[in-house]
Amino acid sequence: MNRGITQEMRETYDKYYRSHGYRERYPVPNVATLDYLLQHGAKQAVHILDFGCGDGRYARALLDHTQAHVTGYDISLPSLCDLERSLNGSPHGDRVTLVGGAIDNLHASAYDLVLMLFGVLSHLGDRATRIETLVKLRACMRPGARLILSVPSIYRRRPLDLYLHARARSLGIASPPMHEAGNIRFVRYVHGERLSFFYHLYTLARLEEELRAAGFILRHCEAESLFPEWWLMRSPPLQRLDRALAKAIPPALGYGIRAYAELL
Ligand SMILES: C[S@@+](CC[C@H](N)C(=O)[O-])C[C@H]1O[C@@H](n2cnc3c(N)ncnc32)[C@H](O)[C@@H]1O
Repeated sequence: MNRGITQEMRETYDKYYRSHGYRERYPVPNVATLDYLLQHGAKQAVHILDFGCGDGRYARALLDHTQAHVTGYDISLPSLCDLERSLNGSPHGDRVTLVGGAIDNLHASAYDLVLMLFGVLSHLGDRATRIETLVKLRACMRPGARLILSVPSIYRRRPLDLYLHARARSLGIASPPMHEAGNIRFVRYVHGERLSFFYHLYTLARLEEELRAAGFILRHCEAESLFPEWWLMRSPPLQRLDRALAKAIPPALGYGIRAYAELL
């Protein structure tokens, strides 16, 4: 099951990055998330793993704002190629390692901060696969290390898809992994490319429970943004407004939930 979803997501993101659609939609980090990383461990970190780094919008910013070595891991080769290209001529190139392929290519006990930003955990597959991956990442972390992640909130995303998948489940026609509540699949067309996405949409309780099952304790969480992240990308004033408003809403009502967890 894991291999099927991973292959589907690899094909989707290969097309998304190759068409430049991802960079056009998300050209820069969410400033509030970048600050969250800096305030919750990135400044002190020696070695950061950006798991599901994509084209490196956060990895590049972290190289600029910290002294850490950054490892970027992704299943999509075009994303890693984009990241490598964007580092050409950068003074920070010697502090970056790019890793693709199997998750086992990552080093054990190497990282003091691991990131899974903007829905990476949601893309991995069914509950068992998400937990299995978290356990593998746990093995890559040094004692005292932190995990910072953001996941899409079930209360803010794709209500029609959620309804249709819930209905299929109630009719007994949802085959794995769509038989689990919160799992959805949808298609978006970008530059004429058909992109098929698998997501698990999270409640806060589900996030906390899965982290615990994988040996993490959720220490803090908040709303990642109030407005959809792509609205914020081209407007610093809107980012500032969003930041103020997001502070006032419960974490689960954010477009995404931003959190950090530590090893149990
Ligand atoms: C929404 S993008 C987020 C990218 C980046 N973290 C950011 O904030 O811009 C999700 C990323 O997860 C990656 N991904 C999907 N499945 C994965 C898996 N099984 N292992 C690692 N990365 C995966 C995709 O290739 C994609 O780059």
